[in-house]
Amino acid sequence: MNLEDYILSHIDDEGEQLSRLSRDAHVNLLRPRMLSGHLQGRILKMFVRMLQPKRILEIGAYTGYATLCLAEALPENGEIHTIERDDELEDFIRKQFDLSDFKSKIHLHIGDALEIIPQLEGNFDMAFIDADKRLYSKFYDLIFAKINTGGVILADNTLWNGKVLEESHSNDKQTMGIMDFNKKIKLDTRIEKVILPLRDGLTVIYKL
Ligand SMILES: C[S@@+](CC[C@H](N)C(=O)[O-])C[C@H]1O[C@@H](n2cnc3c(N)ncnc32)[C@H](O)[C@@H]1O
Repeated sequence: MNLEDYILSHIDDEGEQLSRLSRDAHVNLLRPRMLSGHLQGRILKMFVRMLQPKRILEIGAYTGYATLCLAEALPENGEIHTIERDDELEDFIRKQFDLSDFKSKIHLHIGDALEIIPQLEGNFDMAFIDADKRLYSKFYDLIFAKINTGGVILADNTLWNGKVLEESHSNDKQTMGIMDFNKKIKLDTRIEKVILPLRDGLTVIYKL
């Protein structure tokens, strides 16, 4: 048994629906490793349990795995808006949401987050940035005004498989996108921030 297996056998189960979703994604979709998975999914749920946000915004739904984890701990009157650019994923995602007990809390928007975020009404208490790595800084700027004081922004993949340490990255737009985002976050005095070395790096940002 490796450490990850040990961790997974000593934390909450992900539950039947999420483990079926994960299996379906591995059989039917390209790049199934993009979904948050058991450990990160339980951590996302725990953030919601502890922080008790009422409205959450997710950028990048993919299969809806993380959306379902975040929705699980939302109160009955809470809501999560998730945005996915790839319309070929819509049927898969809607099927997962339809099967879920938390369906009524979830609002799926198909389209480019850069266009959809400005159209969303109201503020959010939490956001999860997990889409195109080249656009993290733009997503952040668009989201920031909509996050309440005391709200939290989570950004996934901010260590980008260790590539943030590489000196020669000029042709790799995704690595550059993550590095620019990390610099921007470090310099932003309106927030507190830490990077958790979880999986591929998870930045936790608290809006002052
Ligand atoms: C890493 S996956 C999301 C995984 C999901 N959040 C989870 O944890 O299970 C990234 C997704 O973001 C989507 N995406 C990329 N750029 C986007 C954009 N500009 N607007 C909306 N979705 C985008 C991709 O199509 C992909 O499905």
